[in-house]
Parts: sequence; structure tokens; C-alpha cells
Amino acid sequence: MASIRPARRTFAILAILLAFCSAQNLTSSKRGLCYVASSHSSSDDSIWTSSGSDLTWYYNYQASPTSSISGSSLQFVPMQWGAPTSDTDMTFFNTVQGLINGGQKIPYVLGFNEPDGCVSGGSCISAQLAAQTWIREVEPLKKQYGVRLGAPAVTGSPMGFVWLQSFFTACAGNCTPDFIPVHFYGSFEGLASHIGQVNATYPNMTMWVTEYAYANVTLQESQSFYNQSEAFLDRLSYVTHYSYFGAFRSDVSNVGPDAAMLTQKGQLTDIGAWYLGQRATGNVPKGGSARSVRFAGWAVVVAAVCLWAAN
Ligand SMILES: *[C@@H]1O[C@H](CO)[C@@H](O)[C@H](O)[C@H]1NC(C)=O
Ligand SMILES: *[C@@H]1O[C@H](CO)[C@@H](O)[C@H](O)[C@H]1NC(C)=O
Ligand SMILES: *[C@@H]1O[C@H](CO)[C@@H](O)[C@H](O)[C@H]1NC(C)=O
Ligand SMILES: *[C@@H]1O[C@H](CO)[C@@H](O)[C@H](O)[C@H]1NC(C)=O
Ligand SMILES: *[C@@H]1O[C@H](CO)[C@@H](O)[C@H](O)[C@H]1NC(C)=O
Repeated sequence: MASIRPARRTFAILAILLAFCSAQNLTSSKRGLCYVASSHSSSDDSIWTSSGSDLTWYYNYQASPTSSISGSSLQFVPMQWGAPTSDTDMTFFNTVQGLINGGQKIPYVLGFNEPDGCVSGGSCISAQLAAQTWIREVEPLKKQYGVRLGAPAVTGSPMGFVWLQSFFTACAGNCTPDFIPVHFYGSFEGLASHIGQVNATYPNMTMWVTEYAYANVTLQESQSFYNQSEAFLDRLSYVTHYSYFGAFRSDVSNVGPDAAMLTQKGQLTDIGAWYLGQRATGNVPKGGSARSVRFAGWAVVVAAVCLWAAN
């Protein structure tokens, strides 16, 4: 008799843990690669395109594909990063047209990268210049080739909304994006509230979350953010694509080591493995916080149960 009660309790705990395991999709067709070149590209790029990866698309902030990725099944999405200085420049349009004429499938392109941002990677352009460039080089891709267009990807700050509104005003009805790319750095609550605000502002457009992470927090916080946001983005039907930032090594990460998908040695971290639809690796990125140790016991139990259930 004495052995029955602990067995029952174990069974109840197992049942709860099993419900927890199945709450999340292991893989998701929405996931893509936000490609950032690094000095380790030659050894690291194949990780994203390996047969065990669930990624379906990628962008690289440029108009042309990345050669190490272009042979894979990942759909390339060209980006018009900034605005050329010449008002007759057709480089972006011509490059994408060349890809299409060369037989590549180009269902989507992305607009400007953080045009409202003038530090850390933003293209820093006026709404007027962006509108002119869009009408000349981006809009014709839709008219001529049926390419679906991603609106300018503003920063997650309140200024982003202001810039995008100025852009639409400057367009005077001549810019017709099909979806809104979203960037956000911060907590899960912040991300969810930001996405809600974008949906409320542009209710008729689907969304791509093309850069997001909880920067500069502990490993435990990074992983918990990752788990919550992944489940949330998979559930929201109007978010059709997302790409986590980032796909690089922890020692060169500009969002803190614990958010990275690779360790300083180029191995998948837990977040990196989960993003590709794989099981946790246990590889701790350099700079990983000792604060996560307190939860390690439970993480091991949950991982063991999930493993056991999956087999
Ligand atoms: C998550 O899994 C459910 C059930 O299998 C499926 O219907 C849904 O399409 C999946 N979501 C994604 C984004 O893959
Ligand atoms: C997104 O906006 C639409 C239209 O306003 C609304 O019906 C829907 O509930 C919103 N979705 C969420 C998750 O807030
Ligand atoms: C969204 O679409 C609905 C139905 O087509 C339309 O009535 C509404 O005006 C649109 N809203 C915006 C902001 O474009
Ligand atoms: C994140 O989810 C994985 C399963 O996908 C789980 O093993 C892990 O314990 C979770 N971590 C946190 C901090 O929620
Ligand atoms: C994270 O920290 C790095 C290094 O201190 C800093 O450059 C970066 O701006 C921070 N990122 C965010 C989003 O807070």
C-alpha cells in the first residue's frame, strides 16, 4: 500500500508536465532566418539550412540572396534597406526583376529597415524620401509581378508609429503594402502590447515580426521570453511570419549573450535549438547567468518527461 500513493502522485505530476510539453509547437512554418553575416559565416551558415531545421524563409537586409543560404529550401525575401541618394536610381527594382527573370520565385519583398532609427542599424531616412523611393522602386514590383510588399519596418519605439503615419501621408495613397513588419526589443508583455497596438492601428494588415528579442537579460529570462513569445506568435493568426534576433554567436551578440542562438563556439544554444524545432542542447552561451541554476532541476525533469513522451 505504501508504494501506491507516491506512484499516484508521480502520475499526477507527469500528467501536468505532459500538458506543459504539448502546449507548444515544436516546429512552426512561420519561422525564418534574420541573416546576419559574421566572421564565422563559413562554418555557421549551414546550421540554419540543415535538414533538421524548420526555417522556411530568410532575409539579409539586402536585395540579393546570400550564396551560402541560396541553395537551400529557405525562401529568400529581398529588402530595400534604405534610400538611394539619386532620385532616378532603380537598383533595387532592377535587382529583384533580375532575380524574377532568372527564374527565382519572389513572393515577397521588405521595405526600409528602421527608417526612423539613426543609431545601431537604422536606415535613418525621411518619410518623404522613403515614399518617393517606394513609389519608384517597390510599388512597381507589385503592379508588374504580383510581389507582396512589406511596409517599412520601423523601430518598436513610439516614434515608429509617428514615422509610419508620416510615410503613408507622404505616399498620398500610392503605397500599398500588404503586411506590416514589426521590430521589438523588450519583455514579453511589452512585445504583446506592441503587437496589439500595431494591430489596432493597422487592423487590415497581417504582420511579420522580423526582429525581436529580450536584450541583455539573464539566460532564464531570455528563455522564458523566448518560450512565451514563440507560443504567442504561433497562436496569432494575423502574424504570418517571424524571425528571432538572433542567429549569431553569443560573444558578438549586440543583444546580450543570453539571447543568442549560438554559443561563442558556434554550437546551438537551447533557444537556437528550439527555434529550429529541435530539443534543448544544454549549451550555455558565454556570459550565461548563474541565476538560471536555481531552475535547472525542474528544467531537467521537464526535458526528461518531454523526451520520454516523444519516444
Ligand atoms: C501548431 O500546431 C497546431 C496543431 O498541430 C497546428 O494546427 C498549427 O498550425 C501549428 N502552428 C504552426 C504555426 O505551425
Ligand atoms: C486585431 O484587430 C482586429 C480588428 O480591430 C480585432 O478584431 C482583433 O481582435 C485584434 N486582435 C487581437 C489579438 O487583439
Ligand atoms: C478594413 O477592412 C474593412 C472591410 O473590408 C473596411 O470596412 C475598413 O474600412 C478597413 N479599415 C481600414 C483601416 O482600412
Ligand atoms: C522553455 O520551453 C522548453 C520546452 O520547449 C522547456 O524545456 C523549458 O524548460 C522552458 N523554459 C522556460 C524558462 O520556460
Ligand atoms: C544591450 O547591451 C549592449 C551592450 O551594452 C548595447 O549595445 C545594446 O544597445 C543593448 N541592447 C538593448 C536592446 O538594450
